[in-house]
Amino acid sequence: MSFDEKIDRLGTHSVKWDMMEKLYGVPPETGIAMWVADMEFRPPACVQQAVEKMAAHGVYGYYGDDAEYLDAIRWWMKTRHGWDVAREEIFTTHGLVNGTALCVDAFTAPGDGVVLMTPVYHAFARVIKAAGRTVVECPLALENGRYEMDFAAWDKQMTGRETMLVFCSPHNPGGRVWTVEELQGVADFCQRHGLLLVSDEIHHDLVYPGQKHSVMPVAVPGIEDRLVMMTAPTKTFNIAGCHTGNVIIPDPTLRARFAARMAALGISANSFGLFMATAAYSPEGAAWVDDLMAYLEENRRIFDAGLQAIPGLKSMPLEATYLAWVDFTDTGMTAPEFIARVETEAQICANHGATFGTGGESFLRFNIAAPRAQVEEAVQRLQKAFADLQ
Ligand SMILES: Cc1ncc(COP(=O)(O)O)c(C=O)c1O
Repeated sequence: MSFDEKIDRLGTHSVKWDMMEKLYGVPPETGIAMWVADMEFRPPACVQQAVEKMAAHGVYGYYGDDAEYLDAIRWWMKTRHGWDVAREEIFTTHGLVNGTALCVDAFTAPGDGVVLMTPVYHAFARVIKAAGRTVVECPLALENGRYEMDFAAWDKQMTGRETMLVFCSPHNPGGRVWTVEELQGVADFCQRHGLLLVSDEIHHDLVYPGQKHSVMPVAVPGIEDRLVMMTAPTKTFNIAGCHTGNVIIPDPTLRARFAARMAALGISANSFGLFMATAAYSPEGAAWVDDLMAYLEENRRIFDAGLQAIPGLKSMPLEATYLAWVDFTDTGMTAPEFIARVETEAQICANHGATFGTGGESFLRFNIAAPRAQVEEAVQRLQKAFADLQ
C-alpha cells in the first residue's frame, strides 16, 4: 500500500473530519484536520482481509475461544517488546480510556488523588474527575525543549491521599521515549508514595528508527505487584474505531480485583476488534509498522523543518508518536491569538494545549500521520499565517 494515497473520509462518521466544522468552525472542504489521534491511512492488508472475511460470512454472533487472539498479543509483545505475557494476564477492554476508567474504579476510592504528569493525554483527567477522584497534576519540567521528570518537586507535592499514577509511555503529547533510568525513577516514585502504577503504553509501537522504547515490566523487573500495563493494537494499526485495548496485569491479586470489576460491569469484547487485533499482531502487521514508521519519519522531518523556519515556533523533537507538540510561547501571542491564526487563517484544526493540563497552555498538537502532500500543505499554510514573524 502507499501511504501517499489521499483517502476521503468526509461523510464516514470520522470524528476528525466530520466534526471539525461543528467544533472548530473550519469547513472540511478547505480545512485540514490535524487533531484527533488517528491516521489517514488504511490498516495493513491482513487487517482488511480479516474484516472482509467476517463480512463475507455475514453472521456476526458471539465470539468464543480467545486462545488465538491472546496468543497473537503474546507473540507481539514477545517479538516486538521482549516481554513475556501469559494468557491469563490479559483483559480486553473497550479501548484504553475504558481501561483507565476501569483501573480508577477497581483500584481507587472516591476522593483519592490520582497523579498525572502534565501535560498529558486529556482523557485521563476526564475519567478520573468523572469518577469523583481528584487529579493531582505533577508538571513535567521543560528543559532544552523537551520534557524531563522532576521527582524532587513531585515528592513535595504528595500528601498521602494519592493512590495511583496514570503514566503515559511513550509520552503523548511530548513524544518522549522515556529512558530505563526514568522508568526506574517512576517505579521508585510509586514505591515511595504507595501508588499503583498504571502504565499506558498505547504508543509503544510508534517509535522512530534509532529510538528504543522499553515496556515497564522489562525496564523495571520487580514492580509487578503494583503495575497495570495498558497496550492496544488501535493506534499502531489505525483501527481505533474498534475500541479494543489490552489491559495486562501480571500480579494475581490485582488481577482478581480487576476481573471482579469487569464482571460486575458486564464488560466483554466486540468480535470485530478481536478479529482485527489477531490479524494485526502478525509478521505482516509488523512489516507494515516498520514501513509506517519510515514514512512518518520523513513527515516528521518535513514538519519540523517547516516550522523551524517560522521564528517563534518550536516543534518538540518527537522520539515516538505522530503527534507533533508545537510551542508558540516565543511568538509573544496569547493562546486565542495564535489559535486564530492556525484555525481561521491556516484553516487547520489542531488540539489546544490547555486541554492536556498544566504546562500545555502555549502549545498546539498537530497530527502528522497523513499523506505527505497534506503535511507539506499544512506547513505552507502555517508559514503563510505567521509570515509577519519572518
Ligand atoms: C495515551 C493514550 N491513551 C489512550 C488513548 C485512547 O485510547 P482508546 O481509543 O483505546 O480509548 C489515546 C488516544 O490518543 C492516547 O494517546
